[in-house]
Amino acid sequence: MIRSALMNVMTAAALKAGRGLKRDFGEVENLQVSVKGPGDFVSAADKRAEKTVFEELSRARPGYGFLMEEGGRVEGSDKSHTWHIDPLDGTTNFLHGLPIFAISIGLEREGQLVAGLVYNPATDDLYIAERGQGAYLNNTRLRVAARRDLADALITCGIPPLNRAAGHARFQSELANVMRHAGNVRRLGSAALDMCFVAAGRCDGYWERGIQTWDMAAGIVLLREAGGFVTDADGGGEMMANGTICCGNESIHRRLLDLLREADMGRRAAPLKAAQL
Ligand code: IPD
Ligand code: CA
Ligand code: CA
Repeated sequence: MIRSALMNVMTAAALKAGRGLKRDFGEVENLQVSVKGPGDFVSAADKRAEKTVFEELSRARPGYGFLMEEGGRVEGSDKSHTWHIDPLDGTTNFLHGLPIFAISIGLEREGQLVAGLVYNPATDDLYIAERGQGAYLNNTRLRVAARRDLADALITCGIPPLNRAAGHARFQSELANVMRHAGNVRRLGSAALDMCFVAAGRCDGYWERGIQTWDMAAGIVLLREAGGFVTDADGGGEMMANGTICCGNESIHRRLLDLLREADMGRRAAPLKAAQL
C-alpha cells in the first residue's frame, strides 16, 4: 500500500500527538487515587494533543480551515478544505484508564469527506482511508463483516451521559428493540473507534445520536472505503448536519434502521394507547 502525501501529513500529525497522549495515559493511572482525580490533567492532555495536530496540519497544509472539539472553528483562507478533528475521542475511557480512545482526523473537500484517520496510541492501531483508495488498519485492507443475520451480530451504540439525560428515554426504547433482535450489544465509549470496528468487521453495526462532525468525519470515510453503509439515524445522508449515525454492512445497516424506526413509532404510539385506556 502506497500512502499519499496527504495521508503522510495526517499520519505524522496523529503519531506526534499520539506520543503525548500515550505518555499522559500512563500518568492518569497514578492520578486515579488522588483526591482531586485526573480530570484537570486529562483536559490539559486533550488540549495539548489538539495543539499538536493543529500545528502540524497548519504547517503542512496552510490555509485549510479547522473544526475542532476544543478550539472550535478556525476559518482558513482555502474555503474548500476543512479538517474535522477530535484530539481525544473516548475521554471518559482515558480518564478511567481504559485503553479505548483515539485521535480522529477527517478532511472535507468541497463538501465531501475525502480522507479519514483514527489512531489509538494505547494499542498503536492506525486506521486510514482515502476516498476511492480503500481502508486500512496498519497496512491491512479492511472490509466490513459479511454476517447478514442480526441474531449473529454484535452491535455497538452510544449511551447519552447523565448531562444529556433528555436523550435517555429514546435511547432506551431503541436499545430495547435492538436487544430483541441482535446477538448482543456493546457500549465502547469512542464513536470514532466504534466506526473503525465496524469497518474492520470486528463489530457488525453501530448507531448513535448526538455526536459531532469531529467524532464521525474520519469514521465515515473508513466505513465507506471498507464497503460499509452509513447514513444518519433516519436513513438519510445528513449525518454531519444532524449528528446521528447508523452503519453496518448493507443488510445489518438496513435492519438496524428498521429497528430504530420501529422503536420511534412505538414511543409515539405509547401515549396514544395510554390515553385510550
Ligand atoms: C464521545 C465519545 C462517545 C460518544 C459521545 C462522544 P469524547 O466523545 O465518542 O463514545 O458516545 O457522544 O461525545 O467526549 O470522548 O470526545
Ligand atoms: Ca468525541
Ligand atoms: Ca474529544
